[in-house]
Parts: sequence; structure tokens; C-alpha cells
Amino acid sequence: MSKPSSPKMPTRRRLLKTVGAGALASFLPASVIATEKKDSPHRASGKTVAISSGNGMGATALAVKLMLEQKLRPVSAAVQGVGLVEKDPNDLSVGLGGLPDENGRVTLDSACMDGPTHNAGSVGCIQDILHPAQVAERVMDCTDHINLVGPGAKNFALEQGFKETELLTERTRKIWQKWLANRTEDDRLWPLGDVNPADPILQGEARPWGTIHCSALAPDGSLGCCTTTSGLAFKIPGRIGDSPLIGCGLYCDNEIGSAGATGRGEAAILSGGSWLVVERMRAGDTPTQACLYALRRVTEQAERGARWQPALWKDGRPGFGLTFYAVRKDGLYGSATMLGKPGTQHFAVADEQGSRKETCSILHPTG
Ligand code: GLY
Repeated sequence: MSKPSSPKMPTRRRLLKTVGAGALASFLPASVIATEKKDSPHRASGKTVAISSGNGMGATALAVKLMLEQKLRPVSAAVQGVGLVEKDPNDLSVGLGGLPDENGRVTLDSACMDGPTHNAGSVGCIQDILHPAQVAERVMDCTDHINLVGPGAKNFALEQGFKETELLTERTRKIWQKWLANRTEDDRLWPLGDVNPADPILQGEARPWGTIHCSALAPDGSLGCCTTTSGLAFKIPGRIGDSPLIGCGLYCDNEIGSAGATGRGEAAILSGGSWLVVERMRAGDTPTQACLYALRRVTEQAERGARWQPALWKDGRPGFGLTFYAVRKDGLYGSATMLGKPGTQHFAVADEQGSRKETCSILHPTG
């Protein structure tokens, strides 16, 4: 809890209201600004930026284009951006071609959050709808609810004019059938063998994960974000992860910044990870520092929590993947991931100079 503020000492929130939010950097302690310059090359070239997981090169480029050329609000730009991945049948973790649940049904989770209105919408466990992020945006804009799940979410989408689409592809059907054929008797407990396909140490295990998060900052300083996923591969039917949960798979505060998560959703849920990242930025962390802080918190929780004990490696490090992404209102951005070989983990960024991949910080580097 923060201390009550003295009338003579304005809070950062009050100052931002008074002098304009773009001036955030000038309120950061000098030590933080110095650390920023030393540690983080991640600064947008202009006032517009979108960042996402590594599978979002096209998504971030589209989000920035839409903010610049069509003046789209950041949340809508992010929703449209991730739509490219939702309709890509080759991404096994999002939308069409996402890996199904135990029963071979593709169920999608998605949420979006709008900074200026501090409003959000989400759909969980929705079936047969190609663009769950767009449905989440309709929940936000057209209702006073935040979360719709299962058949209710699908009915709402149909009412809104979305069409039914088969999301299981030939490729994912084959992968699911192979998983089914090799399924062990009790595979619902840790360790589930999460696999980050980019990490050779985790390769060959049973359950790939993915997801796309996109956080966007518009030229007027407004923020928005979106996360969309098919969730944990071969999950128990009905499972939702962090992606449709505000504060877990995404969060934004228009005065501070925006953040999101990909990877083991249960860890982002139990830590309130994306909310924590934004709150750390409020306290003065750079985005990268804030992401590392949240990962450290997850590690501590894993060390002392019974739930996570079987998921710890012998050396005490968590044996599951989790990555946070963050953009601060002043255009600084960053990302950190739980584990991996240094230099091998990347996130996507686009700004007025174009799009590129940049390197994630790693909390627990592997050899
Ligand atoms: N982060 C995606 C999920 O766990 O469902």
C-alpha cells in the first residue's frame, strides 16, 4: 500500500495530470534514468511504438501503421495487429492452427485493454471464432461486462456478426493424434513438459506453448494492449490461462505503461504478472527491470509454493517458460524471459523507423 500523500508533495499521478503525461521521464529518480541509459537500448525512435512476442513482427508493424496512418487508438491497433497471427495457420499457439485441447477442440482465449478509458474486454475458451481479440474488443466497447466465456462468448460473437470457422488444421489434427497416441496415464500433473520451441534445452517435450501479446503507444501518449492465444496445448477442456485475465496476461495504465505475458499462464496468473510489471514501472523501473522483477517474483513463488515444486529444475530454477513485455509511457520498452541461452530469445518491436527483433533479457541464463 502506498503512503497517504502530503498535500505539499504531489504524487506522480497528480503531477502527470497537472503537467502532462509525456513528461514521465522527468519524474523518474536520477538513478533510474542513469540505469536506463546504461542497461537499456530499448527506446522508440519517435512517439509511436508497438512491441510483441517474437511471433509479432507483422503484428507490431501493422499496429504502428494503423496508429500513424489511420489514427487508430492503440488498443484497436494492437487487436488488428495480432489478427495477422490469429489467421496464420502456421502459428501453433494462436487462432487458426492453434493446438487443441485433450479432446481435439481448439479453444481460444483473448483480452484487450484500453488505456484512456481504463476499460477491458475478454473472451475465454471460445470455439470456432477466428478473431477472438476482435470479439474481446466488442465485449469492451459494446457491453458493461469484461469476461465472457465458452458458449456465451461464442453466441455473443455470432450476434456481433462473426462467422463460424473450423480452427483445427490437418497439421494440428496430426500433432494432436500423435500426442493422444503417446499420452501417459496421468499427464495432468506437473511436470507437464512445457516446451519453448526456440529453446533447445526444452525441445522434444510434450506441450509447446506460444501466444501473442501486443502493447502499443500512440503519438498522443495513449496506451492499449491485447493478448490472444489457443492456450496450453492439449489442455483439459475448459481450462483458461492468463491471456483473458486482466492483470495476468495483460494490463495497462494510461498514466504509466502497458505490459503483457506469454508462456506458462498459471505462473502469470499466480503472480498477477502483468499488473506487477506496470506497478514496477510506476515505482520507477525501466520496462526491462520491471519484467525481470516480475520473473524474480515468479521464481520466489515457485521456490516456496507446493504447486510449483515439481516444476523446478534440480538447481531450483523454474522449468517452465514465461516472458513479459512492457512499454512505458515515455517510449521506453523492454522484455525479459525466464530462461534460455543468452542472445537467443527475441521480441518484436515496430516504431516510426520500421520493425525489428530485439533481444530479451534472461533471468536464468542457460548454457
Ligand atoms: N499464456 C498462455 C496460456 O498459458 O494459456
